[in-house]
This record gives sequence, C-alpha cells and structure tokens, in this order.
Amino acid sequence: MRASDIAGDLDRILVTEEQIHDKLDELGARIDADYAGKDVLLVGVLKGAVMVMADLARHLTIDAPMDWMAVSSYGSSTKSSGVVQIRKDLDTPLEGRHVLVVEDIIDSGLTLNWLLEHFRTRGVASLEVCALLRKPDAMKVEIDAKYVGFDIPSDFVVGYGLDYAERYRGLRDVAVLAPHVYS
Ligand code: IMP
Ligand code: MG
Repeated sequence: MRASDIAGDLDRILVTEEQIHDKLDELGARIDADYAGKDVLLVGVLKGAVMVMADLARHLTIDAPMDWMAVSSYGSSTKSSGVVQIRKDLDTPLEGRHVLVVEDIIDSGLTLNWLLEHFRTRGVASLEVCALLRKPDAMKVEIDAKYVGFDIPSDFVVGYGLDYAERYRGLRDVAVLAPHVYS
C-alpha cells in the first residue's frame, strides 16, 4: 500500500520506504560486524515488528534464526500502560544465546523495558535492541537500544508494520496518522 492510496487518512509522511531500506542496510552492516562468529537469535515482537524483521534479515549476511513473541500491553489504542501479558511465548530457549530484539518502535519504552527484564531472567549471553523508530520525547523509561533507525516526534505514526486498530500495517512508508482518524 502506498501513501497515495490512503492520502486522506495521513497527515504527512515521516520516513519514506527508501529511507527505511537505506537505514536497514546501514544497521544490517553494523549487526553483521558486531555478531560475526557469534550465534545470534533475532527476537521479534508481533505484529508490529514483522516488516522490520523481514527486511532487516534480508540486509544481513549472517544467518540468524528468528523467533517471535506476542504480547499485549494494556492501555488505550494509542498509548501503552507497561502492564504486559505474554500471549505467545518464544519457541527457543534463551539460555546462553546472543539475543537481538527487533522492534518497530520505542514509544514510552514500557513494553520493551518489561520484555528486556523478562529476557534477562532467562540467562541470555547478551541482549541488545534494534528498533526502527524511537520517540525520545515520549520515553518514560531509559532503554539502551544499540541500533536505532530514526528518532521521530511523539506523533502517532502508522505504516511499515505499525497499525491503528489493525489498519495501515501494509503502508510502505511511515506516516503520521491524521488526527481526524482517531479523535
Ligand atoms: P511502548 O510500550 O509505549 O514503547 O509501545 C509499545 C507498542 O505500542 C509498540 O511496540 C507499538 O506496537 C505500539 N506503538 C507505540 N507507538 C506507536 C505509534 O506511534 N503507532 C503505532 N503503534 C505504536
Ligand atoms: Mg509492537
């Protein structure tokens, strides 16, 4: 789906498809170098991280297995609360693994903070985060993300895996949702 297909629902395009792929190429090269000779496990959080995971994996030269988790974070449709429930757990034991969590966005950071604490209790060899987007002004907890694509303003964004009420995930770019859609 292109922005022109749903132009009336969008305020503005924030990150284009091309910018995303250039950035994943750059992050992929860093990840390749940092994990050379190491056994890394990519952990994605459903469903938002699907696009980032799919494209990041194709920018890597290392052969990294993927695993997926599904969580619900309670709160309103545009804000998370930090109260997290695991709806689908990983299939892979994390003990002794170099885990790279692949995320779409760090907003308040509450969901990821909870997940990272949880992974640490499972005996990982190392734990790092790759997030395509980060909203520095919205962060409520400090998240030490090693690989970050773009710092963006605190507006609610959709596209490239990010949804509003399960819509817009297939949009190729990341765009600010027009306020009339959700207010
Ligand atoms: P956090 O706990 O506030 O950091 O955000 C948790 C989750 O909320 C993210 O992984 C996204 O799936 C979703 N989210 C946060 N901000 C946005 C946004 O601007 N658009 C769409 N989803 C978002
Ligand atoms: Mg998500």
